Amino acid sequence: MNKIILETNNLKKSFNHADGKITLFENFNIKIKEGELVALVGPSGSGKSSLLHLLALLDDPTKGEIILNKQETQHLSNYQKDELRRSSVSIIFQDNNLLTDFTAIENVMMPLIIKGENTKEIFKKAEQILKNVKIFNRSKHFPNQLSGGEQQRIAIARALIAETKIILADEPTGNLDFKTSKEIFSLFLKLKKLKKTIIFATHNRELANRADYKLYISQGTIKRVNAR
Ligand SMILES: Nc1ncnc2c1ncn2[C@@H]1O[C@H](COP(=O)(O)OP(=O)(O)OP(=O)(O)O)[C@@H](O)[C@H]1O
Ligand SMILES: [Mg+2]
Repeated sequence: MNKIILETNNLKKSFNHADGKITLFENFNIKIKEGELVALVGPSGSGKSSLLHLLALLDDPTKGEIILNKQETQHLSNYQKDELRRSSVSIIFQDNNLLTDFTAIENVMMPLIIKGENTKEIFKKAEQILKNVKIFNRSKHFPNQLSGGEQQRIAIARALIAETKIILADEPTGNLDFKTSKEIFSLFLKLKKLKKTIIFATHNRELANRADYKLYISQGTIKRVNAR
C-alpha cells in the first residue's frame, strides 16, 4: 500500500471581492498517495491555479486543512511553511516565473544552490535534466531569449532537479506542441515510477485521460472522476 502524502479536510476557498464573493470550492476532501499522477481539470476560472497555490502552502484556505507529508500545516509559521515546501514540494507555475537575470541552466540549478549543495555536482545534474526536457542547446540563454515553450521546459527542469516527493504543475504543457507535451508527460510517468506524486492542471483532455484519475473543479465543487 502506498502512503498518503497529501490530504485535505473540508477545504474551502473563497475570495471576497468588491464585485461579490466567489466560492471556488468547499468541503473538498482528498487523500493523495505516493506515486499518484492526478490531473486537475475544469473550465478557465474554476479554481485550478488557486487550489495548486493552496496545496503549495502559498495561500491560506478560507476553511479546512491541508496535511502535507504527514504534517498539519494550518498553524505553521511562514518560515516553517517555506521549509516544508522546500523539502517536499516543487512547483511549476502557470506563468513559469524564471529569474530574468540568470541563464536557463542557472535557473535550473537554483533550488539546489539554495540548499547549499556542491556547485559542480549541481551543474552536472542540471545538464542532464536539461537534456531530458530536450532544451540543453539553450542552456546559456536568458529567459527573454527563449520562446514560451522553451521557458516552460526550463521551469519544468527547475522543478525536477530538487527531486521532491510532490510536484505541482500548473498547465505545464500549455505552451508546448503536441509532441513536446507528450514527451513531458512521459517524464511524469517516469517520475511516477519513482513514487513521486504529480498533480497537474491541464486543459488537454488527452493528457488528463492518461492520469490515474482526474479532479474536476466546476461551479463550487471538486469531484474525483476516473480518467478512463
Ligand atoms: N485574489 C483574488 N481575488 C479575487 N478573485 C480571485 C483572486 N484570485 C483569483 N480569483 C478568481 O478566482 C477564480 C479562479 O481563478 P484560478 O486562477 O484559480 O482559475 P483557473 O481554474 O486556474 O483558470 P485557468 O484555466 O484560466 O488558468 C477566477 O474567477 C479569478 O478571477
Ligand atoms: Mg490557472
